[in-house]
Amino acid sequence: MADEQARREQAVTDEVVASFAETKDERLREVVQSLTRHLHAFAREVRLTQEEWEAGIGFLTRVGHITDDRRQEFILLSDVLGLSMLTVGINAPASAAATESTVFGPFFVENAPQVQLGGDIAHGAKGRPCWVSGTVTSTDGAPIAGARIEVWEADEDGLYDVQYEGDRTAGRGWLAAGPDGEYRFWSVLPSSYGIPDDGPVGDLLAATSRGSMRPAHLHFKVDAPGYRTLITHIFVAGDEHLDRDAVFGVKESLVVDFVEHGPGTAPDGKEMAGPWSSVQFDIVLEGSA
Ligand SMILES: [Fe+2]
Repeated sequence: MADEQARREQAVTDEVVASFAETKDERLREVVQSLTRHLHAFAREVRLTQEEWEAGIGFLTRVGHITDDRRQEFILLSDVLGLSMLTVGINAPASAAATESTVFGPFFVENAPQVQLGGDIAHGAKGRPCWVSGTVTSTDGAPIAGARIEVWEADEDGLYDVQYEGDRTAGRGWLAAGPDGEYRFWSVLPSSYGIPDDGPVGDLLAATSRGSMRPAHLHFKVDAPGYRTLITHIFVAGDEHLDRDAVFGVKESLVVDFVEHGPGTAPDGKEMAGPWSSVQFDIVLEGSA
């Protein structure tokens, strides 16, 4: 490329970066100036055409239009680009003793119903009953009584409640850990699923010959005063999609054995007429700095 061309392009970048120089918030200045430099470098690297710029604007516009309080296409886009997982990694707990984090995903909903210890978060979600239990402790092993454990999952058809018509809440809820940090609840065995592919993110995956499947998992968000909030999943060991998660969320430490049981007595004394599953998952929170 001619030197003059390179000089003109760099002048645009320099001018925009300089335009943010008076930003009072130091962190905001760092972020917007860096965003400008990287965005411009991207455009120069691919020699972005006018048509491609328009296509990009059109794509982001469609992402915005399809997003509402029950569908979050921007999070989905961040997820399939690996930005969500990279951000999780950058902010991961420093302690290797704490439970690992993974992507939040687009299906969390505020104000999910509370259940008591041993209660059922399925609320009618279809699937094989699954007993989930474990403890919440700090990295030094002390139980964290009252930790707030919020869970959400897809049903046996691979769909979250918000993907159905109507306002039904199912396959989600929260409970408080008991005095010894213990927790237990009924849910349904999670299923693998394809992320929503009827919008612009689906078009992107199709155009790039990428799959949309996620391995079966149960989402957790765990909060307790004085500890870092943990956002993670547990994955069902043996799932065929574990090595090619569409959103790059799998970590070895989060792949857990879900044990299959025949009819009989469950840990809470309930008589089960059909097959059910159980899983044990102990959660370790890192203290907040
Ligand atoms: Fe999910």
